[in-house]
Amino acid sequence: SGSLTVAELAEKLNKDSSEIIKKLMSLGVMATKNQDLDADSIELICGEFNVEVEEEVVVDETDLDVYINEEDAPENLQIRPSVVTIMGHVDHGKTTLLDTIRKTKVTEGEAGGITQHIGAYQVEENGKPITFLDTPGHAAFTSMRSRGAQVTDIAIIVVAADDGVMPQTVEAINHAKAAEVPIIVAVNKMDKEGANPDRVKQELMEYELVPEEFGGETIFVHLSAVKGEGIDDLLEMIVLVSEVEEFKANPNRAATGTVIEAQLDKGRGSVATLLVQNGTLNVGDSLVVGNTFGRVRAMVNDIGRRVKTAPPSTPVEITGLSDVPEAGDRFVVFEDEKKARSVGEARQQRKIVENRGDNTKVSLDDLFEQI
Ligand code: GTP
Ligand code: MG
Repeated sequence: SGSLTVAELAEKLNKDSSEIIKKLMSLGVMATKNQDLDADSIELICGEFNVEVEEEVVVDETDLDVYINEEDAPENLQIRPSVVTIMGHVDHGKTTLLDTIRKTKVTEGEAGGITQHIGAYQVEENGKPITFLDTPGHAAFTSMRSRGAQVTDIAIIVVAADDGVMPQTVEAINHAKAAEVPIIVAVNKMDKEGANPDRVKQELMEYELVPEEFGGETIFVHLSAVKGEGIDDLLEMIVLVSEVEEFKANPNRAATGTVIEAQLDKGRGSVATLLVQNGTLNVGDSLVVGNTFGRVRAMVNDIGRRVKTAPPSTPVEITGLSDVPEAGDRFVVFEDEKKARSVGEARQQRKIVENRGDNTKVSLDDLFEQI
């Protein structure tokens, strides 16, 4: 890290000083050619020109990836539950499947604790916990769903046996492939009159999802989510894939993860469902979530019980954030509350500036053309 003058930065960016000064003015900063710029301004300017800041120039403390990508020593890693995302075309039965799994696997005693549908929960199969995420089924949520794939270890592609492969089935396959996660195909609605699983298999061959019976390696499970048939087969296959892949995390570090959903609650304020992906989240932790921050005031698990800690792969609902984050936002816990606040405030501020400066953005293509 270190500071640069306007002229020095201009040279590094292959720009004229006047361009930098103009940019600064559009951000509300008056500067001259020989003025020293602080790290934040350098970052902002580089951002405006879509240039990634090299670490020798500035270590960006406000970039959550810096903390999220901090590597754990192999000896600190432990097996964690796999995170399974259910994807597929509208109305093919994703939510019904999730509800059925939950009903089948959550014991009566626990079921009494279910107070809300948080779109994420954990069940146990043969003593092995599995975390499930629902995803919205409409095209408008494509971008969130693509973020959803980043939190996923295994993708279940639900295809209704009476409807076959549809546009969002293909989208889901593409997301899973882009995320490079194992795919299990759940051929659902097998109870229906027009159910034709062979047609589904034929159609999916076009997308390189070939069942073992046709010489491929893709796992297919036949289901009726409504009747609860095939659920155990599906869970067994998930456990099998998990055992092969060995998903790991370090439970003994400050938590990082992703927002599954969030909203403003009249009584409780900002309420966010988080998936802890690494580390352990605790009540009282200071954290930055997307462009907001706060302290975990209360934490509730997937069956509506209050909990004090949440280890890797656990979905929890938290309160205590100053604002409502967005689904897909990432979060990082800081041991130091002051640091959480300063990083959070910087991100909040940058978001405001970004929104203001949207119309003056230079695209990456423009930049390459100029250089
Ligand atoms: P979106 O969230 O809107 O994308 O839909 P979804 O994929 O979550 O589908 P959902 O679970 O809401 O199911 C859609 C309809 O299909 C509902 O009426 C379900 O009752 C019905 N359905 C789901 N699974 C089955 C099944 O196995 N058999 C039959 N017959 N109907 C099913
Ligand atoms: Mg649904």
